Amino acid sequence: MSPVRIIPQPTDLHAIASETPFTLVESSRILATGAAASVGDLLAGILRPSTGYRLPVQDPTDSDPAGAADITLHLDPADAPDLGAEGYRLVSAGDGATLTAATPAGLFYAVQSLRQLFPAAIERRSVQSEAWQAPAAVITDRPRFTWRGAMLDVARHFFDPDAVKHFIDEIVLFKINVLHLHLTDDQGWRIPITGRPELTGIGASTEVGGGPGGSYTEEEYADIVAYAAERFITVVPEIDVPGHTNAALSAYADLNADDTAREPYTGIDVGFSSLDVDSASTWQFLDEIFRSVAAQTPGPYLHIGGDESHTTPPEQFPGFIARATALVARHGKIPIAWHEAGRSRDLAPGTIGQYWSFVEPQENAAELATSFVEQGGSLILSPADVAYLDITYDESTPIGQAWAGGPTSVRDAYEWEPGAILAGVTDDAILGVEAPLWTETVATPADIDFLTFPRLAAIAEIAWSVAPPAQGRDWEHFSGRLDSWYPRFSALGISAFDPSGVSSSTLE
Ligand code: ACM
Repeated sequence: MSPVRIIPQPTDLHAIASETPFTLVESSRILATGAAASVGDLLAGILRPSTGYRLPVQDPTDSDPAGAADITLHLDPADAPDLGAEGYRLVSAGDGATLTAATPAGLFYAVQSLRQLFPAAIERRSVQSEAWQAPAAVITDRPRFTWRGAMLDVARHFFDPDAVKHFIDEIVLFKINVLHLHLTDDQGWRIPITGRPELTGIGASTEVGGGPGGSYTEEEYADIVAYAAERFITVVPEIDVPGHTNAALSAYADLNADDTAREPYTGIDVGFSSLDVDSASTWQFLDEIFRSVAAQTPGPYLHIGGDESHTTPPEQFPGFIARATALVARHGKIPIAWHEAGRSRDLAPGTIGQYWSFVEPQENAAELATSFVEQGGSLILSPADVAYLDITYDESTPIGQAWAGGPTSVRDAYEWEPGAILAGVTDDAILGVEAPLWTETVATPADIDFLTFPRLAAIAEIAWSVAPPAQGRDWEHFSGRLDSWYPRFSALGISAFDPSGVSSSTLE
């Protein structure tokens, strides 16, 4: 029986080598009721294709008592003091497997750990002949941060709903719970807005390199959001303003100070576009946009970008941000903005900042990020030199960019500490960690996989697992667990970057 290896590392894990493993067999059942039964259905959906077993999800109160080969999902709000809103307990042994949590989200994370206890072939989508054993273990686990994000830029290259759902299926493996969608940029506008058909007409007509671009229908966006929510992922839509707006400026002439529509843009420069921040047309536009995006998005957040607005008059930028964050709040959402927006000292209450400078803050980034905290907000940390997934891994990486202090190795992505970046900004002001994937060089789902994995596993461990020095962040330990993940990536059909060639070995 292989040792127990899980990413992210659980808070408390005891493998019990002397105990008989749990074994899933033809007659195994998943016992769960109420909200736990929905998580049970997701678990059954993972286990059925490779085992070929029926694995009925049954209500334990009107079924035979749990047997040695059954998996029981137990939801008990009384566990909240111990396990919190996302924690869980998992017991795997010869007399059964039991997953316990105070919330359905906690059970879902227990499921993500349980699937890692089975042989990698459990992830295949066709029937395999394996002994479906999970080593005996007792795990008690809860996350360090409530925000464990991945960002997908669907503006530079458009990714259709199936590709986004596929990405969701992948990121949940590592207990990611936020999907930030970068929906608008110079090269494309991807979300429909009532009364503004040219945003998803002219504005969505292309992408980097001149491809066909595209956009979601309202139904498609709603479907992505619902698919994410079923998997305990909050979708955070980003409408990047006042810069990064060439697509909008190409769609509506009156958004430009000279009343002339811009040409669609298919290059990869940044910082050249800006809304005309003082015009009535701009504020009418933003009111319609934020109203529509808020109405289409059940989650509490709306991201307004605010980065790299190099052609917005600097004296007008803080006022723009103050007014835009207030408008988002008026439409009932919590505003989020990249750290440059910290130039405003009049942010809407509770505005969240997203830090994207380096682990060693460059220029005045620390001051700008700290401005959110000084104004009562919190921070999401996405230090570009370690957490940006679009950066190359090494000199031979065929796609990706190298600007952010790159290349960024898997080890670089793993060896940093969120509490050590900004003086005075510790866990109580840090909402969490997010890894953005910008897609200037990323055109296919396989490209997404290659740049995202395994670095997202490293970022997820930083976001989930206990901070050092309580447990320590040990590269050797992590890379050992990661090596054992390659058969799993392979079974999942994820072509992850593999620096040590373990995916071609027989490691299981
Ligand atoms: C950014 O990378 N411009 C947020």
